[in-house]
Amino acid sequence: TLTPVILSGGSGTRLWPLSRETHPKQFQPLVGERSLLQATWQRLEGLPGLSAPIVVANEEHRFMVAEQLRQVGVTPSALLLEPVGRNTAPAIAAAALQARAGGGDPLLLVLPSDHVIADAAGFRAAVQAALPAAAAGRLVTFGIVPTGPETGYGYIQAGQGEGVRPVDRFVEKPDLDTARAYLAAGGYYWNAGMFLFRASVYLDELGRHAPEMLSAVQAAFEGARRDADFLRLAREPFVACPANSIDYAVMEKTDRAAVLPMDVGWSDVGSWSALWAIADQDGEGNAHHGDVVAMGCRNTLAWGGRRLVAMLGLEDVIVVDTDDAVLVARRERVQEVKDIVARLKAEG
Ligand code: GDD
Ligand code: MG
Repeated sequence: TLTPVILSGGSGTRLWPLSRETHPKQFQPLVGERSLLQATWQRLEGLPGLSAPIVVANEEHRFMVAEQLRQVGVTPSALLLEPVGRNTAPAIAAAALQARAGGGDPLLLVLPSDHVIADAAGFRAAVQAALPAAAAGRLVTFGIVPTGPETGYGYIQAGQGEGVRPVDRFVEKPDLDTARAYLAAGGYYWNAGMFLFRASVYLDELGRHAPEMLSAVQAAFEGARRDADFLRLAREPFVACPANSIDYAVMEKTDRAAVLPMDVGWSDVGSWSALWAIADQDGEGNAHHGDVVAMGCRNTLAWGGRRLVAMLGLEDVIVVDTDDAVLVARRERVQEVKDIVARLKAEG
């Protein structure tokens, strides 16, 4: 069987003020009618051998996760709750232990809950094409052809071959000069942040490259308490677990990585400018959400919905209107929105 592992622990601060700690971006309908979390499940439907997902989320979001999944007609086989976020490597380890608890060793399809994929059928075809390599013990990643020297992604240098190829090198979030050098060299892909592997293979590799993390998660899993539909990981060992992402903790180090390049209209909607890029735009490059009037504007994004937003003579500007905060930013500086959030947090 193929068991999706849906990760829903991030807080998406670069989409502030829409995305908040209490209501992060994966729970919002940024594109289409359904939230990004709901769309994550819905695009899998039709995959042969698909089982109910294992969902890993923060304790705080448990009711929102459960309710949103119910709305799209899916009951997770387990909803694992983390008392605190320890990044993706421990979250995936907890899911892998859960998957192995019945004695089996399913293929896990690890999915972020906050991405957009325009071509769902193409994505399902890519997953199917990757299954044999994963069944044979590879940690399969999905490669996206890079469009610029973005520093927020993992970079994968692919070996020779067609279809699923060996990974020569995996570098998580290189600095700008390094990313530029990779683009100039060619042969590199962005890591889409989705993974396909056997539960046992991931646990083995984590044990090899981050043994203290594996034992902390094992302790948290063994001490987990069932509470209605939720499985609460034991607080003490999980809090003591080192925090790290799968990318740094495992993918940069393992020699069992493989990559399947895919072209499926993928976006991680990592910023307002990324959302602008995938939104429906008018002939002048303006994208609107809600009740918006824009005159003489070019390449703008106006995200309203609460009341009328009117814009006049603006270029390359993002406006986001919410109940309690308004963001107005130059489009090329939207990565710094996370610095505003950090500052607001520091100032209490
Ligand atoms: N349950 C849980 N717990 N989920 C988490 C946690 C956690 O502690 N931390 C993050 N997540 C979820 C996020 O909600 C998101 O869906 C996914 O895991 C990935 O985390 P991000 O924090 O968004 O990672 P990233 O964007 O910096 O980098 C990853 O994705 C890129 C592509 O979007 C890496 O895999 C990169 O290599 C990749 O290029
Ligand atoms: Mg991300």
